Amino acid sequence: IDTEFEGGRHGKRVEKIAKVEEKYMIRRNMEMDERVTVISHPLIQHKLAIIRDKNTGSKEFRELLSEVAMLMCYEVTRNFQLEDVEIETPICKMNAKMLTGKKVAIVPILRAGLGMVDGMLKLVPAAKVGHIGLYRDPETLKPVEYYCKLPTDIEEREVIITDPMLATGGSAADAITLLKKKGARNIKLMCLIAAPEGVKAVREAHPDVDIFVANIDEKLNDHGYIVPGLGDAGDRIFGTK
Ligand code: URA
Repeated sequence: IDTEFEGGRHGKRVEKIAKVEEKYMIRRNMEMDERVTVISHPLIQHKLAIIRDKNTGSKEFRELLSEVAMLMCYEVTRNFQLEDVEIETPICKMNAKMLTGKKVAIVPILRAGLGMVDGMLKLVPAAKVGHIGLYRDPETLKPVEYYCKLPTDIEEREVIITDPMLATGGSAADAITLLKKKGARNIKLMCLIAAPEGVKAVREAHPDVDIFVANIDEKLNDHGYIVPGLGDAGDRIFGTK
């Protein structure tokens, strides 16, 4: 027996098991993390399956993404405060419940995040919409902001960042950092599909931010795409591929 060879094989097997265990622990931690919500409603999961399908064209992709964003928005806004208001029905007066008037800002990360805005505005029509455009300088790896326009009172608003794909988590974490620098204090992140790596990165960089997703997929591939994912969300929304 070539003991060196056998030792090498054993080492590789141990490494592989350690990697699987690490992935299992990451997933387990996410499932137990109160700040990570996977919205597994049957309507969302059904629509997500059609969105993922490579044969779904841009028109249907956009419509379904917008519908799913609307359904997810229902869950993301669950903690909004209500107050008693007196109204009068055709029958009598009553104390009803209405939102306290919490101000909301929806902030899509350009460009794919735009695909989730319309659906959210259907449920929260008074929300203001900010925009953030970022890229990573390939040399310094530092985030470069190429566009940022936010509501002037961003510090008073409940901010919901949208980006369909939470892949490495780099852009989302950078966008949150930028928003915090501009004064935002109350931030949630809403994505359609996440990779475990992306959720972990954002949770570590911004433990105060709640993350909402429709599914946490298996992994990232070597090109930074989520597996199984849906491909490039921006290209599928805008028909650029
Ligand atoms: N961005 C996408 O559009 N798709 C991925 O799978 C990862 C990042």
